[in-house]
Amino acid sequence: MTNRLKKPVYLDYNATTPIAPEVREAMLPCLAEVFGNPSSAHVYGREARADVDRARCQVAALLNCRPGEIVFTSGGTESNNHAIKGIAWRRKSQGRHIITSRIEHPAVTEVCGFLESLGFAVTYLPVNGEGLVDPAAVAAAITPETILITIMHANNETGAIQPIEAIAALARRHGIAMHTDAAQSTGKIPTDVNRLQVDLLSIAGHKLYAPKGIGALYIRSGVTLEKFMHGAGHEGGLRAGTENVAQIAGLGAACAMAAADLEVNRRHLQAMRDRLLDGLREKLAQHPGLRINTPLQQALPNTLNLSINGIRAADLMARCASDLACSAGSACHAENVSLSPVLTAMGIAEPDILGALRISTGQMTTEEEIDAAVASIVRAVKY
Ligand SMILES: Cc1ncc(COP(=O)(O)O)c(C=O)c1O
Repeated sequence: MTNRLKKPVYLDYNATTPIAPEVREAMLPCLAEVFGNPSSAHVYGREARADVDRARCQVAALLNCRPGEIVFTSGGTESNNHAIKGIAWRRKSQGRHIITSRIEHPAVTEVCGFLESLGFAVTYLPVNGEGLVDPAAVAAAITPETILITIMHANNETGAIQPIEAIAALARRHGIAMHTDAAQSTGKIPTDVNRLQVDLLSIAGHKLYAPKGIGALYIRSGVTLEKFMHGAGHEGGLRAGTENVAQIAGLGAACAMAAADLEVNRRHLQAMRDRLLDGLREKLAQHPGLRINTPLQQALPNTLNLSINGIRAADLMARCASDLACSAGSACHAENVSLSPVLTAMGIAEPDILGALRISTGQMTTEEEIDAAVASIVRAVKY
């Protein structure tokens, strides 16, 4: 473990998480003696296959589905690509209309844009001031041509949790495939696919203490997708390529930990987030205009998106750089200085968008770190 006290406090867990020690432990044998090809019939292959099978069961247990409904991928981006293109290709003779929202991650909007260039029609639904999609707007957008609804479970910038159950019920009633990007919610809040009623759900390992470059796609039994990678018959024939056994074992271990400790972790994440908010509210009481962009009653427990009137996030972050690592806008495209489409879709005024800071707590976050972060932000504001 690096000495975290010497580095700035890390409060950017929505960008990525460190690998949990238990996850690393689960991976180590696959980086050493368990080197077989899971497709080989001999003992080396069978050992590796056992690790892949175990991980598939662990992921399935977290999502409350069958192991055979899980396909391992290279991460959230691939899972989203596979779900959306896979349905588009498979159902294009039934219709060519897709419904999504204006606040999706680029791993969804870019795929939708690509499909538009191929002749599909895409409806990008607006959100309200809290960043929430209205199921009534989804209902109104459905046409006989609609083949897919893809709405994220929780937003990466604001943490807003979308009414997926209500939207999925509509999809089901119309025989439309329902996909949700659960890259941010998995491991933080329940992601039971039967409660959510989704057909397809994407997860990203590096958001829940597994390594980068591994993810999974849940595909409800009976829902068929066009294959994503052509080649040999791996992953039920949908995603060819020898399995990334070590990463898969890591994702499995991370899912098992998340399932075992979901409620305890949720409370910790929220306690840390709330301590931060309370600290800022108290210490900045004299400073006008602390705007909370996260809908706290319907949001991930760890996410706080806020703007401090008159201060650009880039300036604030520069002033805090030696003590605090967090994000302005969305970390996945941090070099992009254009206004956040998510906050723009929420109707937030430009100065507040430019001031928006995303702070996200994690399982390793301590009270000491939160207090240091509050002190750092307050110093930067009073600078
Ligand atoms: C909501 C959401 N979807 C998808 C992704 C992409 O996941 P990955 O980095 O594993 O490709 C991210 C990553 O930031 C995300 O936050």
